[in-house]
Amino acid sequence: MALDIFKITGPVSLDGTVTISGSKNAALPTMAATILAPGKNTLLGIPNLSDISVMCKLIENMGCKTTVDSNTVSIDSASIDRPFGDYEIVRKMRAGVCVLGPLLAREGHAEVSMPGGCAIGYRPVDIHLRGLQELGAKIELKNGYIVAHANSGLKGANIFLGGPFGSSVLATANVLSAAVLAKGKTVIESAACEPEITDLANCLVKMGAKISGIGSPQLIIHGVKHLNPVEYTVIPDRIEAGTFMAAAAITKGKLKLKNCRPEHLMAVIDKLRSMNVVVEETEDGCEVASNGHIQPTDITTLPYPGFPTDLQAQFMACLCLAKGNSVITEKIFPDRFMHIAELSRMAANLRKEGPHIIVSGVEKLIAAPVMASDLRASAALVLAALAAHGQTIVNRVYHIDRGYEKIEEKLNAVGAKIERQSV
Ligand code: EPZ
Repeated sequence: MALDIFKITGPVSLDGTVTISGSKNAALPTMAATILAPGKNTLLGIPNLSDISVMCKLIENMGCKTTVDSNTVSIDSASIDRPFGDYEIVRKMRAGVCVLGPLLAREGHAEVSMPGGCAIGYRPVDIHLRGLQELGAKIELKNGYIVAHANSGLKGANIFLGGPFGSSVLATANVLSAAVLAKGKTVIESAACEPEITDLANCLVKMGAKISGIGSPQLIIHGVKHLNPVEYTVIPDRIEAGTFMAAAAITKGKLKLKNCRPEHLMAVIDKLRSMNVVVEETEDGCEVASNGHIQPTDITTLPYPGFPTDLQAQFMACLCLAKGNSVITEKIFPDRFMHIAELSRMAANLRKEGPHIIVSGVEKLIAAPVMASDLRASAALVLAALAAHGQTIVNRVYHIDRGYEKIEEKLNAVGAKIERQSV
């Protein structure tokens, strides 16, 4: 297998307009939810990413037909002949587990591989399983597979989805997607409020589901007998937008972001402003411009509407060049710090103390060969490389290809010098 690398020459100052793609993390559970609506579903604004191809493959293996045309994915879910989520697919992308709820609700039976290890830390699925059990599913673990049955159908229930780190995003997606076809009323307390869950709920409503409280921690669902296929456009990717905001900040540049929803990024915009970055809303997005040196700030990742864990690494890269010390605290995935060692190879000054990282700003970052370890860590390395002096080689960019559509094309169009090479 060819492993692409990026050769990135810095420092550069980015200037121009970037169009944000559709949200990967909204697209994945929404694609899984088409299993609930037998027939031809059309999802628009779907980013062209390897994770999306993996989800297509997972759904196809069950008997659905998928076609991808640019940013439109059509899923014909008329027949499911194998309610099965293979290990070989789910191990590549743990979001594959979000087919469990829809399959169980439609077929009364599902077998989906338990997701395996993950570079950002141990990620259990106990909350998903607990929620589905509350709906009446019988669940056991066999040969690494979650085997779930609901022979006489799922039944509405009062379900608390809180976990040790707050709510769970994909557990909410799974339980919500199952509850829409359950008999009677379900109340989900401590539901995740992330915009991607709101988007999924809106798509389910368009299919005919009855859900109230959308966007809040209490979702009330009245089960319906069947759902209809839909045409639905997913929201813009707030994490991609936040990454480009960080790119403008770290390169002391100016970027106009189109197809971006600033209301999904309030905590991020607030932090940028305290870092001395100017952010202004425009008609279809916002403009982000450097205002001189980056000022230090403290960041704590939290469930939405708090600062997203998916932007922790990218903002750490920015704060490496701040005039002073910052403290970053990770409250969602306590071990999500693989990027520290790689940023340190680029002359960043970082110290880990428990769940806190002390970032002491340095005058400059220096290019080095570095290794991408997961999606957002890779994005942080790309950002650091844009600002670093010399040529940085980022190895294993397949991680970044999982979640950023045409990232080097988008960055090069606004002044970056990134070359992709197959090695
Ligand atoms: C989603 O993962 C996202 N993935 C992640 O984005 C994101 O980092 C995460 O939410 C948090 O925002 C997708 O949407 C595809 P969680 P998810 O369940 O749902 C613990 C990216 O970079 N937990 O909300 O799997 C868990 O260990 C990815 O695009 C349990 O203890 O995350 C974590 O500490 C990476 N038991 C916390 O809850 C469970 O059953 C939140 O995780 C489930 C979760």
